[in-house]
Amino acid sequence: MTAAAARPQSPLLEEVRDGLSRPQKELSPTLFYDRRGSELFEAITRLPEYYLTRTERAMLATRMPSVIARLAPRTLVELGAGSAAKTRLVLDAMRATGEPATYVPVDVSAEFLRETAAALGTELPGVRVVPVVADISVGLGLPRAMPRPVLFAFLGSTIGNFEEDAAIALLRRVRAAMCPGDHFLLGVDLQKDVRVIEAAYNDAAGVTAEFNRNVLRVLKRELGADFDERDFAHRATYNPMAHRIEMHLIARRALDVHIPHIGTLPFRTGESIRTEISCKYDRARVQRIFSEAGLRLDEWIANDDPAYALAIGSSDAWRR
Ligand code: AVJ
Repeated sequence: MTAAAARPQSPLLEEVRDGLSRPQKELSPTLFYDRRGSELFEAITRLPEYYLTRTERAMLATRMPSVIARLAPRTLVELGAGSAAKTRLVLDAMRATGEPATYVPVDVSAEFLRETAAALGTELPGVRVVPVVADISVGLGLPRAMPRPVLFAFLGSTIGNFEEDAAIALLRRVRAAMCPGDHFLLGVDLQKDVRVIEAAYNDAAGVTAEFNRNVLRVLKRELGADFDERDFAHRATYNPMAHRIEMHLIARRALDVHIPHIGTLPFRTGESIRTEISCKYDRARVQRIFSEAGLRLDEWIANDDPAYALAIGSSDAWRR
């Protein structure tokens, strides 16, 4: 989309107008992920401080073969299909069973999906790829028929970007799509020493700061906003009461930002836009959101230091 294409009533414009008119200005973390943002996130996953991706990948590599052998899924539905590197570990385990595998990546980015589908098609012959363009915070848009059982996967601790109510709503959508024999695999970052978490979101090389500021570039390009990224500092701090790290962009000085069809937004020195929350869970909290969503927590695979977990659940609907 170009600035010209942002009509006065575009969903993006509505969302940004709404978020920036709150007392605590906020923007959706989905706005980070244009091409540059996706590349910056890939760079984050390789940072020494950012333990999440490599920890989860190592856990998937060691644990998936036996999990997949037991659950015997024929289809992998991946929500918010991130880097296909981790997906491959699950698909490899599926292919090792000798059964034909179907992969249904669900993502907001059509462009990203097309590339993933093409790459996987050549790298993993025999895997049928059925991409679905959908915003999982709204709906899953899944094909009506999929070879079963299905393994629904939501990896990377992206669940942490949702407020608890929204996380439960998302899990309910997954549960509603489940049939007997289907399972849900969740990768989730856990509570740990605050210094470890804060370091992961305040890397020494400044990649996360660039990633955070990228949202301003997106608003400039998509909406014609006149932000100057240099006016905003990156800050990520842990909120121990809410068990979550929050990323903010802090105005370095008093300034006005103009956004066509929204108007003039004054910023005070030090005023912030909250761009992301990343909730850190423990087993009890995962248990709680699962049961609120009608899911039973069947298996808890935990790593300590750095603390991270894979939770496996299934619908409890056909158990009573
Ligand atoms: C991929 C969304 C889980 O919250 O840790 C990385 C995104 N933000 N550094 C996270 C992110 C800042 C990441 N998720």
